[in-house]
Amino acid sequence: LSDLKEISPLPFIDLEAQQRRIRPLIDAALNRVLDHGHYIMGPEIEACEASLSQFCGAKHVLSCSNGTDALVLALMAQRVQPGDVVFVPTFTYVATAEAVVLAGGIPLFVDVLKDSYNMDPVSLKRGIQRAKALGLKPRGVIVVDLFGQPADYEALLAIAEADHLWVICDAAQSFGAQIQGKKVGTFGTLTTTSFFPAKPLGCYGDAGAVFTDDEGLYATLKSLRVHGQGTSKYDAVRIGMNGRMDTLQAAILLEKLKIFPEEIRARQEVSERYAIAFSGLPLDTPCLSPSATSVWAQYTVQLKENVREALSAFLAEKGIPTVVYYIKSLHQQKAYDTYPCAEENRCLPVSEALSKSVLSFPMHAYIPLETVDRIGALCHDFFKENRAAV
Ligand SMILES: Cc1ncc(COP(=O)(O)O)c(C=O)c1O
Repeated sequence: LSDLKEISPLPFIDLEAQQRRIRPLIDAALNRVLDHGHYIMGPEIEACEASLSQFCGAKHVLSCSNGTDALVLALMAQRVQPGDVVFVPTFTYVATAEAVVLAGGIPLFVDVLKDSYNMDPVSLKRGIQRAKALGLKPRGVIVVDLFGQPADYEALLAIAEADHLWVICDAAQSFGAQIQGKKVGTFGTLTTTSFFPAKPLGCYGDAGAVFTDDEGLYATLKSLRVHGQGTSKYDAVRIGMNGRMDTLQAAILLEKLKIFPEEIRARQEVSERYAIAFSGLPLDTPCLSPSATSVWAQYTVQLKENVREALSAFLAEKGIPTVVYYIKSLHQQKAYDTYPCAEENRCLPVSEALSKSVLSFPMHAYIPLETVDRIGALCHDFFKENRAAV
């Protein structure tokens, strides 16, 4: 470990390594946009939407301004009305619940499963009962594929269908993943994603997309994206928003999409190497469903709370960054403490425990596998040194 300087300080996500690889292609793509000058809805937008559709198999792709707006657009397309309840997992990024409030609905928080970090079907059922007991109107569910692995759609879609609820798949972290060979983007009636730079498929700014096979919803989404426009720019038929993706971001995304399958494979290799590097340690490595793949937006392990803080500090000293996603569940956040939970006592125990035990390690397609080995070796050193305490 004497040559640790080589990986110190290590970036948590290394966007530069990827940029070095594709810089000439990005430069050329950006120059093409500068040459034609169609900065809003230029030809790259349509080309990008077609490539995304070809990649994931969704019939229609609507590019948009970011992953949060993608959710708001999807909720508006489903005509969320004031007082409508939309079930969301509490262990997720804040944008999932925020979008519901922005669209006029009420988020109702549901617990997640310890192994997959994704929505717990049993807690969803309890949430539906809870909404009814409160006299609220259940309308839909936003299922999140946390850290890159798709949720248990078979179980969740069946529960939603039984109560006539629509499902929006929040695939901000999972675009590129699969269940039994079917790609994310095709599981629910509507799927949304984010192309925030740190996402597995990211651009160089904010951008997102909505995926659907439904002609009617697609037509509504197209209108919503441009201020609710009808037959022309100055014909407003519904309340919409300015939700367009920039042409420059579409140009970047088109180049990045070409190397994305290779990058997904590299992420898979990194995750496998982490599992080997961490074997024998008193921590839980990620569990994948046998029928699903992940795009490894995060590589997240679970540890005892006091051990997590000590290990994170120990690694930070050695130049290895780690991050806690998420330090608090949404039902525990000040902004959301008046919204209902699946449990009357507002206790969602799995999510609350996870926020005390999770720790995410550096993850991207360009981490040398030897670096992963070194991180593993440092963790082994830490647990040897602290054997008595853990
Ligand atoms: C699960 C989830 N949903 C929604 C979003 C929102 O995406 P954006 O940052 O592009 O608005 C994110 C982004 O981090 C996310 O992780």
